[in-house]
Amino acid sequence: MRRTKHMQDSRRIIRVAEAAPALLLLANLVVFFVSAQQPNDQLSGNWAVKTPNADGTFRTTYLNLKTQGPKITGSIRVTQFYYLITESVGGPDSFTLTGSMQDGKSVRTVKYEGKLVGDELHVLTRRRPEDKPTEMIARRVPPGEGALPARIELPALHKVPDNGLSRTPPMGWNSWNKFAGRVDDATVRSIADAMASNGMKAAGYRYINIDDTWESGRDAQGNIQTNKKFPDMKALAAYVHSKGLKLGIYSSPGPNTCAGYEGSYGHEKQDARTYADWGIDYLKYDWCGARTLYTDEEMPAVYQKMGDALRAQKRPIVYSLCQYGRLDVWKWGADVGGNLWRTTGDIRDSWDSMTKIGFGQNDLAPWAKPGHWNDPDMLEIGNGGMSEIEYKTHMSLWAILAAPLLAGNDLRNMSPAILEILIDPEVIAVNQDKEGKQGSRVWKSGDQEIWARPLSNGATALAIFNRATEPAKLTVRWGELGLGGKHLRDLWLHQDISWPGPEYPLTVPGHGVVMLRVSR
Ligand code: GLA
Repeated sequence: MRRTKHMQDSRRIIRVAEAAPALLLLANLVVFFVSAQQPNDQLSGNWAVKTPNADGTFRTTYLNLKTQGPKITGSIRVTQFYYLITESVGGPDSFTLTGSMQDGKSVRTVKYEGKLVGDELHVLTRRRPEDKPTEMIARRVPPGEGALPARIELPALHKVPDNGLSRTPPMGWNSWNKFAGRVDDATVRSIADAMASNGMKAAGYRYINIDDTWESGRDAQGNIQTNKKFPDMKALAAYVHSKGLKLGIYSSPGPNTCAGYEGSYGHEKQDARTYADWGIDYLKYDWCGARTLYTDEEMPAVYQKMGDALRAQKRPIVYSLCQYGRLDVWKWGADVGGNLWRTTGDIRDSWDSMTKIGFGQNDLAPWAKPGHWNDPDMLEIGNGGMSEIEYKTHMSLWAILAAPLLAGNDLRNMSPAILEILIDPEVIAVNQDKEGKQGSRVWKSGDQEIWARPLSNGATALAIFNRATEPAKLTVRWGELGLGGKHLRDLWLHQDISWPGPEYPLTVPGHGVVMLRVSR
């Protein structure tokens, strides 16, 4: 279509030139210019799709396109990702671009289809090949807008002094699992009200953690700004503190967070000062956009930067590393100042996701200790995707694992049964045991597993799990587990059990658990 139109235009120009020889030279120049322009050149330039978030910020996709003959090269930047265009097919009428980026050990790819319509680029993309495509309209923006910032060299490694916090696993709430981008000031206040009054605070829950999407850009001095969902972070912190609770926040060492919001890249010290000034007590620091500038091997130095920055504040701030367990973070997380570190990708509210993560933690037990915890991600208890029995299994497993207990549900709105699971004093006592030893698997037969956690005063917590859907009968043989005892207590039932002798037969419901405490 376009090419034909250009040819017709050119012929018209030539006829005009014959009638008026004085214009001949000029006409020839125009013909030369039009025919020298490859059709793909019309795609060259910096294009952006700005999709508004509900909070006044934008999620921007940048397509920085260059053309070389029939090939389209350049980059695609979207949220935390920066792809180089490695393949292209077609031209302005219809094109497909494939972008690739190295992400740790794997390569991520993305595909955009599109066409030029007037001076707009109409593009289609899919999260996964089987998804319905999202249609977007990109417009030209000035060159350089959205360019990836230059890489900042990293400091040499040293040991960040222990901040003395989180001697037992942190307990609290985090906004992400339930609210994602919908978290705002009013929600955080009402969640704090709920935690302070529903028995959770009394049970030991303290932190109210705002996850991603509170950020906006930076002011002229580079100070991080909140978006309109959080009009006054300092006032919010004061409110949460007035309830006897603590406030947590979220950022990324990269230019962007996972949801594409402003990260702390190049502003680590300044952000740590801002958090301390606001009255922040906890930071979750999520790798996300750092993957565009640094390799996994550089993670310790990247995390150390914020570890040092937080340690330099007068205010004690718990430091939570979130990089999905890459590069065996449990081996260096404490050295960079981390109080906890995520050991896996994101949890979902399903039996499969929860058990895959929870039962996958066995080898990590030696790395947990007071002040420094393995974090198999936040709780999904009460979010609706599992049964109450399954949520009890979730809670029991996290207690045995000495995992942070960060509720991820709507605390203002939960059934008494869910609240009881979250605040069970005897199960929490296992989680918060002062020795800080993480439990591990001591026995397994098919779908039944026994996990044990050594507790203070020589006691042991046992969790007998049944991962099958049908109830299972089994017999616990103390000798086989290397346990002697005298006192036996069922923790969920809050009942002492008279010592049964060398064997204890029991029935565990499908997907359920029995939790025991054995002591001499
Ligand atoms: C990552 C983290 C999640 C959450 C989101 C927010 O996926 O692993 O826990 O913080 O980012 O964007």
